[in-house]
Amino acid sequence: DWNMEDVMEEQIREVRRVVGTEQHAICALSGGVDSAVAATLIHKALGDRLHCVFVDNGLLRYQERERVMATFERDMHLPVTCIDASEQFLSKLKGVTDPEKKRKIIGGEFIAVFETFALTMEKTLGKRPRFLVQGTLYPDVIESCPPPGSGKKHSHTIKSHHNVGGLPKDMKFKLIEPLKWLFKDEVRALGALLQVPRSFLKRHPFPGPGLAVRVLGDVTAGDALQILREVDEIFINCIKEAGLYDEIWQAFAVFLPIKSVGVQGDQRTHSHVVALRAITSHDGMTADWYQFTPQFLASVSAKVCNGVRGVNRVVYDITSKPPATVEWE
Ligand code: XMP
Repeated sequence: DWNMEDVMEEQIREVRRVVGTEQHAICALSGGVDSAVAATLIHKALGDRLHCVFVDNGLLRYQERERVMATFERDMHLPVTCIDASEQFLSKLKGVTDPEKKRKIIGGEFIAVFETFALTMEKTLGKRPRFLVQGTLYPDVIESCPPPGSGKKHSHTIKSHHNVGGLPKDMKFKLIEPLKWLFKDEVRALGALLQVPRSFLKRHPFPGPGLAVRVLGDVTAGDALQILREVDEIFINCIKEAGLYDEIWQAFAVFLPIKSVGVQGDQRTHSHVVALRAITSHDGMTADWYQFTPQFLASVSAKVCNGVRGVNRVVYDITSKPPATVEWE
């Protein structure tokens, strides 16, 4: 239990020591809590030597780019460059089904986008930004590579989180990870201290690889991404309308690469199955599945099947972590 004011002061000192008084840094904002808090903190330390980017990797949720950019402009006083790299990411992911490969490709593409951005910055600044700020948290660090003596039995990677294990070894940036000793609730406390808007602090976590880990198998297959966006939007809106958003750690839909038989109207259908997942947790390391009322689930299921073309079946994930992880990939 650390005092967040001390953490803030110490991290500001540390970043100034590492970066010095001349160098510049890039920070990728994801629209989530961690990167927003990391950027605000580093901005305090480096001022306008910090350059923020928001990358549309083609794996974002429904209208996310528009919504997130509007929030940055309205509520956070950081200049943010928006880069549309969706075609670049999706073409690299075409036909790839292995979850670890998908993560590695995404990590690699993010770095490629940052390196291109750094070259553009070099033209205006006269020097290339050498540092990359990441909102890595402590649970990402332990799950990707458990520290010696941590008592964790597994020495293998559970998942290579893109902001830890998925980065290419030869990348040209030095990483700054000011949150890597903190848990999510501590990051939220630090964010409150830094006056990061509440709308950010209360957002559910969203993984760096985005919808790629929620479309099982090939992300680019058929209408998978579009269907997933529509289902996810319906589910989250139902949760918000029911006043449940803040008591749930994370909720989302998953697109399954299978079809099942249904009957809609008087037609036999052979359409997609989507899964819904909602969990409660304190740190994302363990989680319990959330117990909605049957009425709530029935109403989401009806809205999804009536509202989203190509879906005739909705299932609800009743698995905790462990044995399952939060994400399906
Ligand atoms: P898992 O699926 O590992 O998820 O039980 C635990 C928490 O971490 C998020 N998550 C990620 N976040 N990059 C991220 O920035 C990733 O690659 C990644 N994978 C999972 C997940 O959404 C959950 O909150």
